[in-house]
Amino acid sequence: MTPVIETRGITKRFPGVLANDRVDFTLEKGEIHALLGENGAGKTTLMNMLYGLYQPDEGEILVNGEAVEFHDPNDAIRQGIGMVHQHFMLIPVMTVTENIILGVERTRPPLAFLGKLGRLDRRSARNRIRELAEEYGLAVDPNATIQDLPVGSQQRVEIVKTLYRRADILILDEPTAVLTPQEADELFVVMRRLVERGVSIVFISHKLKEVLAVADRISVLRNGRLVGTTTPAQATRESLAEMMVGREVLLTVAKEEARPGEPVLQVNGLRTLDDRDQVAVNNVSFEVRAGEILGIAGVQGNGQRELVEALTGLRPVEGGEVSVLGQDVTHASPRQITEIGVAYIPEDRQKHGLVLSYPVADNLVLNTYYRPPFAKRMVLNEPEIERHGRALVQEFDIRTPSIYTKSSSLSGGNQQKTIVARELSRPIKLLIAAQPTRGLDVGSTEFIHGRLVEQRQQGVAVLLISADLDEILSLSDRVAVVFEGEIVGTLPIADATRERVGLLMAGVKE
Ligand SMILES: Nc1ncnc2c1ncn2[C@@H]1O[C@H](COP(=O)(O)OP(=O)(O)O)[C@@H](O)[C@H]1O
Ligand SMILES: [Mg+2]
Repeated sequence: MTPVIETRGITKRFPGVLANDRVDFTLEKGEIHALLGENGAGKTTLMNMLYGLYQPDEGEILVNGEAVEFHDPNDAIRQGIGMVHQHFMLIPVMTVTENIILGVERTRPPLAFLGKLGRLDRRSARNRIRELAEEYGLAVDPNATIQDLPVGSQQRVEIVKTLYRRADILILDEPTAVLTPQEADELFVVMRRLVERGVSIVFISHKLKEVLAVADRISVLRNGRLVGTTTPAQATRESLAEMMVGREVLLTVAKEEARPGEPVLQVNGLRTLDDRDQVAVNNVSFEVRAGEILGIAGVQGNGQRELVEALTGLRPVEGGEVSVLGQDVTHASPRQITEIGVAYIPEDRQKHGLVLSYPVADNLVLNTYYRPPFAKRMVLNEPEIERHGRALVQEFDIRTPSIYTKSSSLSGGNQQKTIVARELSRPIKLLIAAQPTRGLDVGSTEFIHGRLVEQRQQGVAVLLISADLDEILSLSDRVAVVFEGEIVGTLPIADATRERVGLLMAGVKE
């Protein structure tokens, strides 16, 4: 059968980068074709060409056997291609319906449908959205405002938006990177339903397990080249990881037995509120000792974020005490906490970890720039900041054109390595790592896991908060589980089976 999409020898260059190198890729009708590859491998670039956002420098694109030239996404949409980007392109203050019909009615001024004239259109649009939602099992409320919806629902809106435009070829760019395991499972059900109804899907991911679970075929890109196409029946996690990275990858973390020392972080009866003034963390007590990793497991949204913010001085503490090495830090500022030797890898690396508009070198001194050797009497020592930047870029393998490059143009993995490099390049006693590898590829994940274990080996107390149960189980020495803002159980790693932890995560106390 003729593939619905075929690329022949597609090459795309950006200044200094060969992003796609003679890529031959096919998508068959009604298949889920996973596109796997490390950050920067060229996955998004290839898909952006199929969606008309970029034009290839060489090679051609065929849709249903016919050569096509896309000048913009409208050309691609006309050929039935829809794309859901990594960062959603919805307008937060508008409703689901408004977002979905936005841009479809190109003959009208874009905002006219908000007025009286558009009422009729909107009613029929709502009905059509309801039908689509029903048919594909995509729960969306046409009247909801985007900003009130959780990420998983926003993603469903993006999918409905493509279907509304009659797409039968769907490109999903890392859709699970922003989802909880449960939301990802729901998405896979929807994807199956779509292919049963004749939609063909390109599914971009770097999570080996989910690719093996959901794809019909798997293609791997490395450094812009398509290194191979395989099937879940033929591949294993190990073989896929090796294709992605080009060498053997350790998927399990090797570590010596823990030798916990003195308590470093002590939390007693901690209570904090969330942004809506509801109790988010209630009566939480635990300690983390030198040389151990305490993992906090839990479904996202059970108070983890508020807990971490309270511990790092970013959120007021309503009750209880926090101390680090016996020093009370319950109401200390983030800077005071940093200065007594606490390192912090935040959950939202773009908002709290980096100043994206700053060069890499500046981000590497973001919490030390005001002290020697980086500053003397309020004057920055630029040569020293640059020397420090070069050394860390080397040591932490941060892939960036230079230390002067703005952090915004780095891949997620390299942004995260920048934060890790900064936080671990000074003497620390306690490391708080929140979702440290979320959205990262295998290579960066392996690297960051190695660094966390290394810190533990050097006697640092490590608090790891992660919604990824595999990550918790492979790194922790003890596992505490949070549910609705409380710790419902703490287990030594030897007793922390997937089943026991899973039950605690669902709030079933022992
Ligand atoms: N608009 C752009 N301008 C310059 N370089 C880009 C642009 N888009 C992507 N690149 C570069 O092309 C390479 C491939 O990137 P991308 O396709 O985003 O990879 P992936 O989606 O696999 O992570 C990277 O080196 C990236 O920095
Ligand atoms: Mg990408």
